Amino acid sequence: MNAQSLPKLFDFEKMVQKNVNGNGMTGMDILSVDQFDREHLAYIFSRAHEMRELVERVGACDLLKGYILACLFYEPSTRTSASFIAAMERLGGSVIPITQGVQFSSVSKGESLPDTIRTLEQYSDVIVLRHPEIGSAKLAADYAAVPVINAGDGAGEHPTQALLDLFTIQEELGHLEGLKIAMVGDLRYGRTVHSLTRLLMQYEDVSLRFVSPDTLRLPMTLMNEVIDRGVKVRETPDVADVIENADVLYVTRIQKERFTDPKQYEEVKDCFEITPELMARAKEKMVVMHPLPRVGEIHYRVDDDPRAAYFRQVKNGMYVRMALLAAVLGKA
Ligand code: NCD
Repeated sequence: MNAQSLPKLFDFEKMVQKNVNGNGMTGMDILSVDQFDREHLAYIFSRAHEMRELVERVGACDLLKGYILACLFYEPSTRTSASFIAAMERLGGSVIPITQGVQFSSVSKGESLPDTIRTLEQYSDVIVLRHPEIGSAKLAADYAAVPVINAGDGAGEHPTQALLDLFTIQEELGHLEGLKIAMVGDLRYGRTVHSLTRLLMQYEDVSLRFVSPDTLRLPMTLMNEVIDRGVKVRETPDVADVIENADVLYVTRIQKERFTDPKQYEEVKDCFEITPELMARAKEKMVVMHPLPRVGEIHYRVDDDPRAAYFRQVKNGMYVRMALLAAVLGKA
């Protein structure tokens, strides 16, 4: 039978098998932040702390010795791919890295995502997938018997980034309740913003400020969810409106690759720049974050400001991903 004519699987038995476990995460796909309640989050963060200690003390261990991660990236990546690889290797596992462009894999010959996934699961115990289409990770998970981790599905979600973002906020500020968080930049296409917003809604008394040009506002469906949850929300096109009160300034890149009209990108590409002069108006205890890469939204002169947390955020990504890999492989 031609592979294309296979029905789209939703294999309930596989799903059940993937979700039975002790800590609640063994065998679990990580597709959306909606899968995590506060108990999960506290669990992941405490495992991430242990991973930090492990790396600082001994560098690596054998926890995942003999396990193989397949890293399948259909879109460019530096941090997400490198941190998953580092995470797996520090835990003693190994990696099949298809991260240097799927043009070198059979994808360039026209192989479908389900076939590529069903191939990689023959060799590996867990698959990390980045793909330009919303819903691609869910599709992959429907076909795979091994856990699939969504490393970004187009403008949809980026759950592991949101987990490391939340972990960073907790590490930097000591708590998650009652914070004023300003999200700045491309709120329409920025998947990290979508996932982090969803996670933050779970915490009491969080206020969200959304700062973007009109054309890049948060998608209406997500905004309605935020409002329905009773979260305090404000929208503004001007970062000056939020700088004085923000506990977290979460800055993002304008997602050039998602625009269908290049003229529209040109109109908004330089709309924000966080400078030392702007930072002089911010609170003494606050934090500036960015999922990176930055392309001009944060001036390099801000990097020496102790409130600039984006490179500490990068490192946290490795600890959180170590915790996630150990958890889905039943070793946490
Ligand atoms: C982000 C992404 O890929 O969504 N990067 C990342 O994973 N650290 C943000 C971006 O590309 O702007």
